[in-house]
Amino acid sequence: MRVLVAYSSLSGGTKRLAEGIFTSLPYEEKTLATIQEAPSLEGYDAILVGYWANQGAPGQDVQQFLKTIHGKAVGVFATLAYHPDTNHGWGLVQKGIDLVKEDNAILGSFVCNGALSPAMLKKWRTPGPDGKVAATPENEIRWKVSALHPTPVDIAMAAERFRERLSILEAHQAQGLTFKSIL
Ligand SMILES: Cc1cc2nc3c(=O)[nH]c(=O)nc-3n(C[C@H](O)[C@H](O)[C@H](O)COP(=O)(O)O)c2cc1C
Repeated sequence: MRVLVAYSSLSGGTKRLAEGIFTSLPYEEKTLATIQEAPSLEGYDAILVGYWANQGAPGQDVQQFLKTIHGKAVGVFATLAYHPDTNHGWGLVQKGIDLVKEDNAILGSFVCNGALSPAMLKKWRTPGPDGKVAATPENEIRWKVSALHPTPVDIAMAAERFRERLSILEAHQAQGLTFKSIL
């Protein structure tokens, strides 16, 4: 089983998640790379793609990368500052899956909170031209919690998700069965 874990991370949260998933994969033939530095996809059985929410969607670079994946087993994982168990969080994952589902077999997905970068916090705490700040007391409460993520539990859950799904893919391959998208 040859697995590529490719990710995009601006402030390091998604990178930590990618590293945790990668470390836990029980395969010798595995590669961890940023999306920009990802090797040719030829020869990989599975591609796990990680990204952060950029206005509710994967960034343009991630979208372009996802569109280059054909005939593979693909998993996606994502981090976002807002609550992951919402339409915003599920939509973030779905937007990634939608870009690969026609042409690939979907292994599964994982989404969790990720800390807002210091630059974003500074921006939201600075009044706009209308004098309003995004940093309401309610948002500050939420950001304090998301600042802790991805936690070791998030990372362990993501790692388990993809380890299990890859083991299912492997068993299909071993028995000559066609692995069908988990959607
Ligand atoms: C330009 C920009 C846009 C963002 N848009 C969203 C968003 O739409 N929803 C959200 O929940 N978080 C948003 N965030 C927050 C990040 O997605 C979140 O903090 C993520 O965990 C950062 O991951 P990273 O540490 O790997 O860069 C945005 C951050 C930036 C810098």
